[in-house]
Amino acid sequence: MCGIMGYVGPQQAGPILIDGLKRLEYRGYDSAGIAVSNGDIRVMKAQGKIANLEALVDGDQPTGNVGIGHTRWATHGAPTDANAHPHTDPSGEFVVVHNGIIENFQDIKTELAELGAEFASDTDTELLAHLVAREYDGDLVEAVRRTVALSEGAYAMVVMSTREPETIVAVRKISPLVVGLGDGETYLASDIPAVLHHTRDFLIIEDDEMVIVTSEGATVETIDGDSVERDAIHIDWDAGQAEKGGYEHFMLKEIHEQPDVITETLGGRISEDGSVWLEDVAFDDAYIAGLDRVWITACGTAFHAGLIGQEIFRRVLRLPANVEYAHELRYADPIIGPRELMIAISQSGETADTLAAARVAPDHGSRMLAITNVVGSTLSRYADDVLYTRAGPEISVASTKAYMAMLIAQYLLALRLGAARGTVNEQQAQAVAHGLHRLPAAIEEVLGNEDEAIAAAAAITDADDVYFIGRGLDYAIAMEGSLKLKEISYLHSEAMPAGELKHGTLALITEGVPVVVILTQRDVYDKTISAIQEVKARGGRILAVAYDTDEEIDTYADLVMRIPDMDDLLAPVAAVVPLQLLAYHVARLRGHDIDQPRNLAKSVTVE
Ligand code: G6P
Repeated sequence: MCGIMGYVGPQQAGPILIDGLKRLEYRGYDSAGIAVSNGDIRVMKAQGKIANLEALVDGDQPTGNVGIGHTRWATHGAPTDANAHPHTDPSGEFVVVHNGIIENFQDIKTELAELGAEFASDTDTELLAHLVAREYDGDLVEAVRRTVALSEGAYAMVVMSTREPETIVAVRKISPLVVGLGDGETYLASDIPAVLHHTRDFLIIEDDEMVIVTSEGATVETIDGDSVERDAIHIDWDAGQAEKGGYEHFMLKEIHEQPDVITETLGGRISEDGSVWLEDVAFDDAYIAGLDRVWITACGTAFHAGLIGQEIFRRVLRLPANVEYAHELRYADPIIGPRELMIAISQSGETADTLAAARVAPDHGSRMLAITNVVGSTLSRYADDVLYTRAGPEISVASTKAYMAMLIAQYLLALRLGAARGTVNEQQAQAVAHGLHRLPAAIEEVLGNEDEAIAAAAAITDADDVYFIGRGLDYAIAMEGSLKLKEISYLHSEAMPAGELKHGTLALITEGVPVVVILTQRDVYDKTISAIQEVKARGGRILAVAYDTDEEIDTYADLVMRIPDMDDLLAPVAAVVPLQLLAYHVARLRGHDIDQPRNLAKSVTVE
């Protein structure tokens, strides 16, 4: 997973490429580079963040109006200057950037080496440059086409050459690629926000397509050479949405955007009486009534959103519901029937494992519904039905507002399905609708209690380990709270069902060990209190997330983070917020790079 940029037009390409790469830095940031052509190609690249590349070109800008750029997240070869993209063939006439993995890398390398090739890097990308050069016989498009035929895997690649200096040729095989159409200038990028400040008109390149880019626009073809008619789409997003808006970090900004995200995601989809209308969900009541099971598949934070969905669908629909990690499901040979609905959840809509698992559904003749934040993403295009989350661009690698929107989307879906199956009556639907509409105000209230999370952060920042426990929906929230803490504070933490603690992990609870307990599910409240007592008896410290009406918890907890009292079914939406803030403030106290945590990337488009 890396970020790709390209530019052809009247302006100097260098600054445009670097600016775009900065906006794509969330996709990878262990090295970056650009190649700019003015007839001759100049490549400049640097290990580390894009600031290093900027320092390198400062005062020594490469000149030229055509260029390609890349920000890398290493898969083949260490993050060094030599392994940074772009890569050239030995003559320096063909230059390539690439996102993804060439699976037959070793075979190609051996073959080229046997023919006497020498390599300047350890990357699979460099091999592509060698291949394009070898295959070139006067037509760059054909050389790229033949290179693609030789290269197995899921990737996007972008090629530029001194032989055809006004053209960039790009290919998409799974990894995302868009073309931004300007006035006498054309952009290429891994995603729309990277060039949204230049243009609002885009061509989305599909799998197994090539695009030939010049300053006059772009021509799309299939990899087999058939021409493709592709209409441009116009994007209405506010580019300012992608800026920090006064907060110290994107993560904090995005946490604070959550009330608006709820409003947006609900907007126009649910009435006061609880009837739900989902614009891109095409299935009808008869299909819903015939459903036997709901599957959910996702990775990371989206999987944790699926844990909540699983519980909601079981309770609201009285249907079996299973959430499965996408990387497990894709190889699990699952038994899925045609009367079973697959829900794939992915903020980016580009996570390779989720895309693969989602495709298991159609193989079994069942329908696939995507819950995703990115309009036009690969997942949305694979899906039979799409429920967009409307969280807006999420920049922080640690996901917050997108997770929140995934929860809201699932409540809407549960109401829609429940109404058609007759498991939700009018009164219940109305009560849930009322609760959903009150959530933005409730979340504002939780954000107003940020001091409690700051105090809790100070209490655990020096800990070696933190445990998160809860039951049912609270357990699902414990999972997400623990992940957030790990991702950005690098503090070891584990989440488990409260009842599981005594079956092993209790051995690790000694004097002062912090245990975060989530207590929003009234039917199991007393059971969770028992787990708290087990912790207290060993000297552990209790940090609780509880309703503001819960006085009992004061007896047990060292610190309480409060949320407003509400329907237990909706409580996860509020309960996750103090845990997001807790993770944020621990990471801040520890002085970490919060928006770009080490070793992680926003969008994992390789397996
Ligand atoms: C990466 C990100 C996580 C994210 C996961 C799934 O691991 O670092 O924050 O939850 O991918 O991403 P998706 O775009 O599919 O929701």
